[in-house]
Amino acid sequence: MTGLIRSRSPVGRGGGLGWFSVNENNLNVLVGVGGGIAAYKSGALVRYFTEAGHDVHVIPTESALRFVGAATFEALSGNPVSTTVFEGVDEVRHVRLGQDADLIVIAPATADLLARLAHGRADDLLTASVLVATCPVVLAPAMHTEMWQNPATRENVATLRRRGITVLEPAHGRLTGTDSGAGRLPEPEHIGALATAALDRFGVFRPSLAGRRILITAGGTHEALDPVRYLGNASSGRQGFALADVAVQRGAQVELVAGVTDDLPVPSGARVTRIRSARELEAAVEELAGGVDAVIMAAAVADFRPASEAGAKLKKGGEDDLSTLALAENPDILQGLVERRRAGGLPEEVVIAGFAAETGDEHHTPLDHARAKLERKGCDLLMCNAVGDGVVFGQNDSQGWILTPGDRPGAEEVTEVPASSKLVVASYIVDAIEELLPG
Ligand code: CTP
Repeated sequence: MTGLIRSRSPVGRGGGLGWFSVNENNLNVLVGVGGGIAAYKSGALVRYFTEAGHDVHVIPTESALRFVGAATFEALSGNPVSTTVFEGVDEVRHVRLGQDADLIVIAPATADLLARLAHGRADDLLTASVLVATCPVVLAPAMHTEMWQNPATRENVATLRRRGITVLEPAHGRLTGTDSGAGRLPEPEHIGALATAALDRFGVFRPSLAGRRILITAGGTHEALDPVRYLGNASSGRQGFALADVAVQRGAQVELVAGVTDDLPVPSGARVTRIRSARELEAAVEELAGGVDAVIMAAAVADFRPASEAGAKLKKGGEDDLSTLALAENPDILQGLVERRRAGGLPEEVVIAGFAAETGDEHHTPLDHARAKLERKGCDLLMCNAVGDGVVFGQNDSQGWILTPGDRPGAEEVTEVPASSKLVVASYIVDAIEELLPG
């Protein structure tokens, strides 16, 4: 599929608010590798792009080659590898590779590499290629926490972001030694997905949510029947995690309340609170909603729970009649937030967004149900997915509609979200929320 991709790059790279055409299935991807221990993960990133059908060239720095040999990158990319501007001089490689690239992803981007890029240096093939490139550039930093927090690095990151380069937030976790903290390289598939999402929608992640606090709920709830059994649903948590990813990359401080999810990478930089049941979710949301600018209820909350939870495993043939299950209704957390705001317990400007996974029936389309739900819940935005037959739940892709209330029922504004990765869907939703935020 050849597509026109809108670049919202704020500065010269990619031409400001411009359009450029790429063949999405066959991009020229340039993978840069800095000289850090996390260089060993870059092979998986090269794989991510080659398996997506892209043509990949790898440019390691000299010091990256102390960690991983050129032969590894040549074998994985199927293309020759060099580090200096003095190789392939006859074909002017230092200019051609950068000019031909549709996307540059550098992982790991070390503190030294960030400094050299921020200063416009061109002292090796990688920095020279970035300097001539007009395509989106995504950097995935990895370093010790102290280096990441050092004012010199902070300034370099700010400079690069101001110029329209996407600098991803590093993950939190185990670093090279026994220490742990912010500075870990996100998993290669995660970097690849974020870079592709940035490319699909904008060309760059803009820091448009800097200074904002966003509360996001994700995943399903489990309502315990006894110590081993529960009522649950098929939510994977992917859409909520993707929303957290996008909000973090746009500069927001993100509180992520995660229910039961698939084994997903924790969005870099988000603060995660784990819950299991709807009532635990309600308590976490109640506590964290104060002081946020927006709440996105992406969690699939069970509407009912077993009326009583047995302390010991229920036995068939025991005293309890297991053929029927008495249920109690769970609180509607989304509606509770809207009511709290109405009662003055939350500032009027807080944006409250919900989700609706709808199947439709013989009388109504999923969109009919979503319009009614938007009205009933009283929230500011509703993302509706048509679900069923394995569509959406547990998948990496999604599609649907974003609804915002009109001046009367039936006059809702509906924006179609085309079939895309959940990261791209998340960026549509975050765009819509940004439009509702004051200022
Ligand atoms: N939600 C909530 N609390 C609940 C149920 C749902 O906060 N007890 C939120 C979900 O997080 C979602 C929105 O409400 O953002 C819609 O969820 P959904 O399950 O589709 O809504 P219901 O009101 O349960 O409607 P339905 O009868 O279609 O299940």
